[in-house]
Amino acid sequence: MLERIQETADFLKSKGVKAPDAGIVLGTGLGGLVSKIKILEEIDYSKIPNFPVSTVEGHEGKLIYGDFGNKKVVAMKGRFHFYEGYSVDQVVFPIRVMKYLGIKYLFLSNAAGGVNPDFIVGDIMIIQDHINFLPNPLIGPNNNQVGPRFPDMSEAYDKGLIAKAEEVSNELNIQVKKGIYLATSGPTFETPAEYKHFRIIGADAVGMSTVPEVIVARHMGIPCFAVSIISDLGVEGRIHYITHKMVTEAAAATESKMTSLMTVLINKI
Ligand code: HPA
Repeated sequence: MLERIQETADFLKSKGVKAPDAGIVLGTGLGGLVSKIKILEEIDYSKIPNFPVSTVEGHEGKLIYGDFGNKKVVAMKGRFHFYEGYSVDQVVFPIRVMKYLGIKYLFLSNAAGGVNPDFIVGDIMIIQDHINFLPNPLIGPNNNQVGPRFPDMSEAYDKGLIAKAEEVSNELNIQVKKGIYLATSGPTFETPAEYKHFRIIGADAVGMSTVPEVIVARHMGIPCFAVSIISDLGVEGRIHYITHKMVTEAAAATESKMTSLMTVLINKI
């Protein structure tokens, strides 16, 4: 595994991707952050050795490297999902590569269904913690050079980054919520009974990504910060028919607020 990671990292370094401060995974609704990056390199996933290729509608597959204010960042415009048929190993591969490129922090975003009755569509939820219903990407032989066999998960989402994000949201007058993100495989959205089940076991929002990436980032000791845009509601009495298009449109409507928050936050680390 390490060889393939190093091969990909070496390829990207040879293309000029040098010493990024932070990695960014742009999910549904955060693609616009790319317009704030002064792009130095932009590489299609299909041109990167060992990278899977993103297929889902609304997810572009590009790795972007550049200046983001006072930071060098490497950003994934479009991520890999388990429901697309990739193994969780493939889903997290780019995060492993980012570590070998030298990132010190990982920032992620996604669209999610809100199951907390206090949420409304368009809310930004800072992820405080997660519940994982996807296969764990660390199952299998462990390479102790990469990380420990039994990684701690007591602070999957960095408390310092969350506190800073709350300060930034106050400064910018952007209202944020905080909560627990539950990851499921999808690709079906939930039945009303499933949304209820997830609420009962402690979730505030449910989605189909982010957690595998955070698990491997924590395995490698990288502090993580993640946000969800609430794109639909899984709350009794407010559940209605939804499509992927409705999710991407709802996420896009909140994109500029989320982009501002992430931009100021990343420049403060
Ligand atoms: N459920 C699961 N994943 C999602 C949802 C949802 O309601 N909305 C956006 N991603």
